[in-house]
Order: sequence, then C-alpha cells, then structure tokens
Amino acid sequence: MSRDNKRDGFSGSFGMIAATIGSAVGLGNLWRFPYLVGQNGGAAFILIYLFFSIVICTPIMVAELVIGRRGQGAPAISFFNLSGSRKWASVGILAMFTCILILSFYGVVGGWTIKYLVNSVCLQYREGAVLDSASAFGQFVSGSGGPIVHFLIFTALTGAVILAGVTKGIERTSKFMMPVLFVLVVLVAVRSITLPGSAEGLKYLFKPDFSQIDSNVVLAALGQAFFSLSLGAGMQITYGSYTRSDDNIIQNAFISSFSDTLFAILAGCAIMPAVFAFGINPGEGAGLAFVTLPQVFVQMPMGGLFAILFFATLFLAAITSAISLFEVVTASMMEIWKMTRRKAALLTGSIIVALGCVCSLSQGVLSGFTVFGKNVFDLFDYVSSNVLMLLTSLLVVLFVGWRLKKEAFLDEVTAGGRARMPRSVGAVLFYIIKYAAPLVIFAIVLSVIIK
Ligand code: PFF
Repeated sequence: MSRDNKRDGFSGSFGMIAATIGSAVGLGNLWRFPYLVGQNGGAAFILIYLFFSIVICTPIMVAELVIGRRGQGAPAISFFNLSGSRKWASVGILAMFTCILILSFYGVVGGWTIKYLVNSVCLQYREGAVLDSASAFGQFVSGSGGPIVHFLIFTALTGAVILAGVTKGIERTSKFMMPVLFVLVVLVAVRSITLPGSAEGLKYLFKPDFSQIDSNVVLAALGQAFFSLSLGAGMQITYGSYTRSDDNIIQNAFISSFSDTLFAILAGCAIMPAVFAFGINPGEGAGLAFVTLPQVFVQMPMGGLFAILFFATLFLAAITSAISLFEVVTASMMEIWKMTRRKAALLTGSIIVALGCVCSLSQGVLSGFTVFGKNVFDLFDYVSSNVLMLLTSLLVVLFVGWRLKKEAFLDEVTAGGRARMPRSVGAVLFYIIKYAAPLVIFAIVLSVIIK
C-alpha cells in the first residue's frame, strides 16, 4: 500500500472519482442503454438493471478496486502480486484482451460521434432542415474511408491523453470533462421533457412491462450493468492501483455507480421523450442516437443547438471511457513487458487501429463476413460484454471471496483503519462478493446456455 510516492497516480479522491465516472459514463449510457430499454420492455428492464447495478455490480467494483490497490499494478501484475500464481495472472491478461476488443468497436463509434458533432456544427440538423437520416447514416458507416478517418482521429486523441500520463492526462481531462458532460446532458433532458407530447416517452421509460422479461432480457440487463460500470475489463483494477492508499474505496465505488446510473436515466430522459414527442419508433436499436435523434432535432425548436449539445455530450462521454480502456492495455504492456509509456501507448494504438479498421469495414465491404450470424463489430460487442466481462468478473469475485480472504479485504476497504468506513459494511459487501455475485453470474449465464 505504498503507491503514493512510487507510481504515477490520482492526486486525490476527486480525481479518482472523476476518472472512474469518466470511464463508466460513456456510449453505454447514451447510445446503448436507451436502445436496450427500447428493445427489452422499457421500465421493467430499468428495474432489473438498477437491481444488478446496486446489489451485485457495485460490490464487484469494490472487489476490483481492492485487487488493484492491494496488488499495486495493472490487472495481470496485481493478480500475480497478490497470489504469486501465473494462473491468476492470466485473468489480468484476459482483461487486457477484453479491453482491446471493446476499444476496437468503441473507437469506431467514437469516430461516428466526431462525424456527427461536425455535421451538427455545420447546422445539418437545424430546425426545418430536410434530412433522410437513415440513409445518411447507412451510407456513412458502410463507407470505407470516412468512418476510418474519424476512427483514427478519435484513437489519436485518446492516445494523446494516455501519453500525458495518469495525473496530467487522465485525471486532468476527467476533472474538466465530467462536470461539462453532466451540464450538457441535463440541458438536453430538460429540452426533451418540455416538448409537447413528451409524456408518452416518460411513461415508456418509467412504466414497467414485466410480460417481456425472459432470461435474455435479464442477461441483457446484467451485461449492460457490467458494461456501463466498466467491470470485468480490468479497468477498476488499474484505476484502483492509482488510488491513494488512504482513499475510501467503498464510498468512491458507490458515488461512481450512483452517478453512472443517474447519467443513464438522464440520457433516457434526454432521448425517449423527444422520440415519442415526434412519433418516432423507439425500438430503432443501435441507430437510435444516429438515425432517430437527427430526425428529432430537425423537427425541434432550436434543434440545431440541441444537436450540437447532444453530439458534444456523446463525444465527451465516449472519449473519457476510451481513455480508460486504452490505459488498461498500455499500463499492462508497460508493466508486463517493461516498456516505456510511449512505446506501450504506440503499440496499443497500432493494435486498436488494426482491429478497429476491420470493425469499421464490417459495416460495409466486410459485412458478408459473419461468425454465428454476426459481423465482426457485433461479434466483438457481444463477446466482450456478454461473455468476457462476465467471465472475468466471475474470476474476480472468486479470487477476492475465496483466495484473498476476508481480513485482507476488510483491511483494504478500511484503508487499514484510515478510511471512515464501518467494518460491518465491508463485511456485507464481502459476503455479496463471496456468495451472491458468483451465484448470480453463474445462474444467468447458465439459463441462457440451456435455453
Ligand atoms: N462503461 C463504458 C460505457 O458505458 O460506455 C464502457 C467501458 C469502458 C467498458 C471501460 C469497460 C471499460 F473498461
């Protein structure tokens, strides 16, 4: 627990929380959450999602933070430092691999946000503009050069923050961007809710329809909670290792997950009421943010301005999350292969660029290439959030609950008595991590497999 002087790290709780919320709040909240709600029974999905976030996922976040701060390294190194076993260290390698997969498709969507931000600044979505947003989106993403150039810009921006380091790059950017992001999403939500006819959208978000719930919906809610809270990808382990030794991990985890959930609901309120106000189908799927919303903006008073605000929000949310994914891979390379930050970041960037280009092209020229009926983009998304993140999280909770042991856990969450956190709260979380979390993850995965 002596990181404060040796490693680059966060200067205090606020920096740590800003960076963690920066990672958690992302495309998952603004782009994925609203369309999953749309496809999976509205508020019933939200309730299941809330339950998983609070009862299962926040304790898992604490488990990851404990591994990172106690293990003092990137995921593989932390596991190794705590267990002395290469087998456990390979869980960290799995996490690094997961981040690479996520970042490959995430960066492509990040590129789309840049394109749409530029379009909105050029007033393409102003009130009264004539627009065929579905074919414009289809044409853009299925092209080759355009989306790749935007993806490269997005990846280069992300890489630049990583090159600047943890305190000067990640922490500084997050402290500035996160408050801006909250203000932006609140502005868009207020506009959306005050449109005539928006009540239907609020009803859709907040009135549960339990008849739609089946094991796939439950898995989607759990997968989304993991994805949104950035679990099972080693990210919390990595940021945990940058956390000051006297910081209150449990409190930070609850603040981060509360803010993330609040943000997802705000994003729902920013999007659904407007979609309903203009009589558009909410079950549009992944195209919701890029196809449906431009259609909404052109019909909305001052739509041009709100388009800029919305796509700026989407871009900022995407880049702060991409930064955390990039950092996991770069930190892992630095520590496992003893590379400089510069070399590791360049190598990370090159791998992401290679895979990301394939993801991007899978929307167009490579769309015929499918595995299990999914193109590369959808495959990476599905495998990372519904398989790898759950698997890694299962291993994380088994490690903390059964290998690390309760005393070590309690010592870490109370910062050796320096953090104001009752041991009883730590003990409850420990039992959730030891028994409830593995059971829930296991049961849900099983129910989908045997279906
Ligand atoms: N939580 C991010 C989002 O909701 O968009 C995605 C993400 C970031 C997942 C970082 C995993 C991760 F390590």
